[in-house]
Amino acid sequence: MTVSRVKTAILISGRGSNMRALVEAAQEPDFPAEIALVFSNVPDAAGLHIANAFGIPTSALSHRDFGTREAFERALDAKLGDHGVELVCLAGFMRLLSEWFVDHWAGRMINIHPSLLPSFRGLETHARALKAGVLIHGCTVHYVVADLDAGPIVAQAAVPVLAGDTPKTLAARVLSQEHRLYPMALRLVASGATRLEDTRVVTSVNASADVVMIVPGPIPLSKGSGRAFEPLGR
Ligand code: GRF
Repeated sequence: MTVSRVKTAILISGRGSNMRALVEAAQEPDFPAEIALVFSNVPDAAGLHIANAFGIPTSALSHRDFGTREAFERALDAKLGDHGVELVCLAGFMRLLSEWFVDHWAGRMINIHPSLLPSFRGLETHARALKAGVLIHGCTVHYVVADLDAGPIVAQAAVPVLAGDTPKTLAARVLSQEHRLYPMALRLVASGATRLEDTRVVTSVNASADVVMIVPGPIPLSKGSGRAFEPLGR
């Protein structure tokens, strides 16, 4: 059976590890999206080399070469049109998008963010999660709306925050879940199982049943560690 695959562009600015996860997933014969283009606003982004190695068409336009945000986005939009793109995945794309571009791609553009939204929108999410003292952290795939990291949620994955974590160790734990979550979310959106109706996500599957929820097991206290707190009244 031939599956009709949704032509999808991935927009990156850097190393492209999520892009690679999406490209690898899209190699499955039953995957509902075809990666038609990897685009970067940073012409020497490492991820472009990865895409090239997979034989995926790539394109780069530096935003610095355009006088206005809109001029850059019009050129980007033209590239997407040239490649017949129907769906856009932002994967570490470090440019704020204008209301025009976001409205133009409304319901057809998703992003991955390294926190459990709506907590920790914006940058440095891992350091901020550690500072806040949360015990569960994670990542979110959401539809893109004009407000940064505020769009309707498609899927989430959670990881524990462990004693001794640094922003780096926590980022690595989250990233490995991003690589599982984003392909799953793209599968939901490209297949039509999940879609945006007005401002609400409508889904025909229980996406939350499939997310990666990692819960810490019993706490391994070393022998003789004793009680930290004696019961009251003794
Ligand atoms: C990821 O952590 C993603 O959640 C965030 O930017 C990072 C991109 O990493 N939006 P990579 O380029 O996919 O490796």
